[in-house]
Amino acid sequence: MAMWGGRFSENTSKDVADYSESISFDKRLYKYDIQGSKAHATMLGGAGIIPEATAKMICEELDNILDRIEKGDFEFKMELEDIHMNIESALIAKLGDEGARVHSARSRNDQVALDIRLYLRDEIALLIDMIREFQKSLVAKAAENPEAIMPGFTHLQHAQPVLFAHHLLAYVEMLDRDAERLADCAKRINVLVLGSGAIAGSTLPIQREKVCELLNFSRVSRNSMDAVADRDFAIELLSDLAIFAMHTSRLSEDLILWCSQEFDFVELGDAFCTGSSLMPQKKNPDVAELTRGKTARIYGDLMAMLTMCKGLPLTYNRDLQEDKEQIFDALDTAKKILRVYPPMLASMELKKENMAKAASDPALMATDVAEELVKLCVPFRTAHHRVGAFVKYCKDNNKQLNECTLEEMQITIPEANANFLTLFDAKSSVGKREVTGGTGFNEVKKQIAFWQKTLE
Ligand code: ARG
Repeated sequence: MAMWGGRFSENTSKDVADYSESISFDKRLYKYDIQGSKAHATMLGGAGIIPEATAKMICEELDNILDRIEKGDFEFKMELEDIHMNIESALIAKLGDEGARVHSARSRNDQVALDIRLYLRDEIALLIDMIREFQKSLVAKAAENPEAIMPGFTHLQHAQPVLFAHHLLAYVEMLDRDAERLADCAKRINVLVLGSGAIAGSTLPIQREKVCELLNFSRVSRNSMDAVADRDFAIELLSDLAIFAMHTSRLSEDLILWCSQEFDFVELGDAFCTGSSLMPQKKNPDVAELTRGKTARIYGDLMAMLTMCKGLPLTYNRDLQEDKEQIFDALDTAKKILRVYPPMLASMELKKENMAKAASDPALMATDVAEELVKLCVPFRTAHHRVGAFVKYCKDNNKQLNECTLEEMQITIPEANANFLTLFDAKSSVGKREVTGGTGFNEVKKQIAFWQKTLE
């Protein structure tokens, strides 16, 4: 008979038990379930709700159970549904009636919400550390190649020359916001919900502040119904992970393009690529492709959580048990990305000549010409129009922008002077963009130094 079986005269069928169990996946919460139960028992003992000696026995036995689980010497039973009842029943098996006191003033509804919060608090700290390592690997690659010039793209068309390091640092900024979002989410997770009972709190004189202190939460939840009903904190985490994955997916797309024969800007280490079973010459950037693919999984986890919650009446509904597999899958996927990416970036070799060659097209400096006119007091719109006409003249006459004489240039740009003929060098174009946040050599070195110091 189930632990809640008092009012039942029939057992659930095997299929129903199979359908409703969560132990096969929520067993990974064991450590947090035990941590929570120990704090709860300690409080119950201190408040005189159970004898102090009982509380002590319970805590000791919970430590034994933890030990057994970690040694692989604990049998998880499907009939006991979930991690909470597996642990509680092991406690009762050992301590009898004394163990049966642990669930006073507690429901699995507040217990499971507590366990997830404790678990996510740790997971977020780990994720943030891993994101910092990811950032470091990008900064290291930028620092190794502070002067490599490549074409910057808009609409996947050559736009203006930029430093490769500047491109990498763009991702460092994105990852920084990802880490900040996670840290912010952790603040809302770090609330004690235990003591909410099934829905309405408890008639027993529990001391929630005591449990809050023991478990190192920042505060006690204010509304027992909210505490057991909502999983917004997990949805928020999954949103944060979806944004993080979106960023890594874009980086992956950049790498995939750069590895293609058409770009040929970088080569990834052999250990991060695979070959073709048919075409002997192939070297495919599978890790980057899989990251793009796995991003879809994380979006799926987020969508599943949002959809699961949208129609639930307050408060707890069993639907909420479905939160865990989404949470675990999104976290596992994000951590896999984070494990594989930094070493892959470290293995990346630049093909600087190819990048420089692609950035040397003088058309990439057309904006520099327009800005030079602005310096001569020509209104920007007029300048833009003149340089556009110059680009058309070159196209019509089958010339590169730097192949015209000053006289030819003056046909469309009457203000042009000899200096204008020197504007078509990618390196000096980059060198002039020393505005804060720009791609100038000094500015980018400053940014590299900033990140090296920040991530130390
Ligand atoms: N395994 C359940 C879950 O994950 C625990 C809470 C069960 N509560 C209940 N009233 N049946 O949500």
